[in-house]
Amino acid sequence: MNIVVGVAGGIAAYKACHLIRDFTEGGDSVRVVPTPTALNFVGAATFEALSGQSVSTSVFDAVDRVQHVDIGQRADAIVVAPATADLIARVAGGRADDLLTATILVATCPVVIAPAMHTEMWLNPATQDNVATLRRRGIMVLEPAQGRLTGSDSGPGRLLEPGQIAQLVRTVVAGYPIAHDWAGKKVVISAGGTQENLDPVRYLGNRSSGRQGFALAELAAQRGADVTVVAGNVEQLPTPAGAKIRSIVSAQQLEEVMGEESADADVIIMSAAVSDYRPRSVAGSKLKKGKADAQLERLDLVLNPDVLAGLVAKRERAEINPAAIIVGFAAETGDAEHSALDFAKAKFQRKGCDLLMANAVGQGKVFGQATNEGWLLRKDVEPTVVEKGSKQVVAAQILDAVAQLMGH
Ligand code: CTP
Repeated sequence: MNIVVGVAGGIAAYKACHLIRDFTEGGDSVRVVPTPTALNFVGAATFEALSGQSVSTSVFDAVDRVQHVDIGQRADAIVVAPATADLIARVAGGRADDLLTATILVATCPVVIAPAMHTEMWLNPATQDNVATLRRRGIMVLEPAQGRLTGSDSGPGRLLEPGQIAQLVRTVVAGYPIAHDWAGKKVVISAGGTQENLDPVRYLGNRSSGRQGFALAELAAQRGADVTVVAGNVEQLPTPAGAKIRSIVSAQQLEEVMGEESADADVIIMSAAVSDYRPRSVAGSKLKKGKADAQLERLDLVLNPDVLAGLVAKRERAEINPAAIIVGFAAETGDAEHSALDFAKAKFQRKGCDLLMANAVGQGKVFGQATNEGWLLRKDVEPTVVEKGSKQVVAAQILDAVAQLMGH
């Protein structure tokens, strides 16, 4: 891809260096276009060395090549990171007073803006109006992260991590633009896997990494939703920007927390891999091998609650929002008589959810991998194939199907 990385004059400009690296290491060609004030924070030489391309800030540099037209027309995507309040205002005003804003005016490719500024500046009605104007015009203004800003204050306005920005840009370039259409919606997503304790050191668990659930959370938050992730065993994953995390360990805890969080949810997604069984009792001290009554040789298990089916039943009884859209997942392998899709269809009937994302798993597929593929099942419609892609690209397809069911 030909990516233009625009850099505006904010302290987070140094993070643009990591973003440029992320793209170049992924094989993309990067043209860096800083604003003149960005060069107060990071020198042109740094951007040139990282991108391997010359850097200028003004339309009056290399006039013979009409740079803004050339760069704008050749770009597959333009990402501005960081974007200051001033840069956002200038783009909203249709200004073309430096090479970056002129390039954005020329471009017909996706434009992604990653804001970074103090909370007061982000929440100022002038900035919010400008952001709304840009979004209405189809420019993707990402939600900033919450967290530590320059100095000791914290709040919304922090630049997303470079890896998160690069991933979102790749999803957009893959053909999945990020609409900001879920403001005011509450989305609850279970992610990762449950663990059932046997004794203080052992547990029954599964291989779910939580990546698919986190990708869904990341995108739902970028659509403007209020997102809660109910997560088991996902410590090594970065928290999706803008999402709240509630940690659980066992299936019973998952059921309890999902019940609480789902009460007023508009969308409920069960992507966690839940242990179907748990030990009948948890030993208070470490179980020893080789004893006559060794519980380790024959585990005594009891069935766990089916959280997904339970949520569907609660919705029927109006104990949670009766209009909530409920999404399930199915991890399936085929057998001699049935395909993975046959099993997924049967599971969809059994669970009663509105959408089911079915993955074919096994042989190293899906669990812990960066990519995912499968089918989306919904009532009264033939299953649609979910094309292989990053877990975020798969998440985008699932959320688009949810948006359709919600009627937008
Ligand atoms: N699920 C759940 N509670 C359980 C088991 C599964 O809520 N006790 C949810 C999962 O989060 C997923 C869906 O049900 O959304 C299907 O999970 P899966 O493990 O594929 O199905 P099972 O119901 O366990 O069926 P089976 O083991 O027979 O394939």
